[in-house]
Amino acid sequence: MGEFILYEADGAVATITINRPKALNALNSQVLDELDATLDAVDLDIVRCLILTGAGDKSFVAGADIGEMSTLTKAEGEAFGKKGNDVFRKLETFPIPVIAAINGFALGGGCEISMSCDIRICSDNAVFGQPEVGLGITPGFGGTQRLARTVGVGMAKQMIYSARNIKADEAYRIGLVNAVYTAEELMPAAKKLADTIAKNAPIAVRNCKKAINDGLQVDMDKAIVIEEQLFGDCFETEDQKAGMGNFLEKDKEKKLKVVPFKNC
Ligand code: CAA
Repeated sequence: MGEFILYEADGAVATITINRPKALNALNSQVLDELDATLDAVDLDIVRCLILTGAGDKSFVAGADIGEMSTLTKAEGEAFGKKGNDVFRKLETFPIPVIAAINGFALGGGCEISMSCDIRICSDNAVFGQPEVGLGITPGFGGTQRLARTVGVGMAKQMIYSARNIKADEAYRIGLVNAVYTAEELMPAAKKLADTIAKNAPIAVRNCKKAINDGLQVDMDKAIVIEEQLFGDCFETEDQKAGMGNFLEKDKEKKLKVVPFKNC
């Protein structure tokens, strides 16, 4: 999938690896363009869960590319922010769940891209932070918005204003990641979680993601209407017929048929 993105599909689970280890997987324009194209190419008839990780054993993503940003004008800076934000938003609203397997540095744009994913798990050598104010800029790929929504306003402001990095155990304590594993355990754990998600009814899982994401943007009266519509949308599907049929037939396995999404 280009020079800097690896894509590996294994049945219903696919892994995207940001592969620029010499620069600790820093995000330049080319990486962002290739990531965008990779997301467009995911076969959503087959893939039910994505894992996002970084190449090497040291870094997930060490941020946006500081060399590329160093000479930007105001207009170019804004355009670079939009480029990152557009790709990250595509990830956030991607129809299927995305798990960030954070295997090292997740700084600046690295912390930000992880927050565009549905679920974050990390290795015990992971380091998180928004160092931008030390570089004379604000976080620019969603950090000022998503960090506050993820860990609360007070903690987000402290991290962003101080530019202080935090280690995996603190990231876990403040709810930035769901779990911490050893470096060896991280990818197996991500795959196990992805497999668990992929075994569930695909339309229902997609609708849950949409209901949670869209519902959080509106007030509760509107949010429950979003849920009602997406709940209703599940009915008459193969997912719903098989899922409820298994229960009523007392099928001990209670497994859903793994059918391609387009046939659901
Ligand atoms: N941009 C460009 N290159 C980067 C980079 C980045 N964000 N982070 C690391 N690299 C490069 C280094 O320049 C170095 O390249 P060379 O070997 O060619 O010199 C290589 O990766 C290895 O890095 P270090 O030698 O610095 O490795 P280290 O182990 O000593 O330190 C580190 C690791 C603490 C992560 C350090 O590299 C670092 O502080 N990186 C910058 C982190 C950062 O500030 N990220 C935020 C960027 S701003 C941003 O992301 C804005 C936004 O919101 C959109």
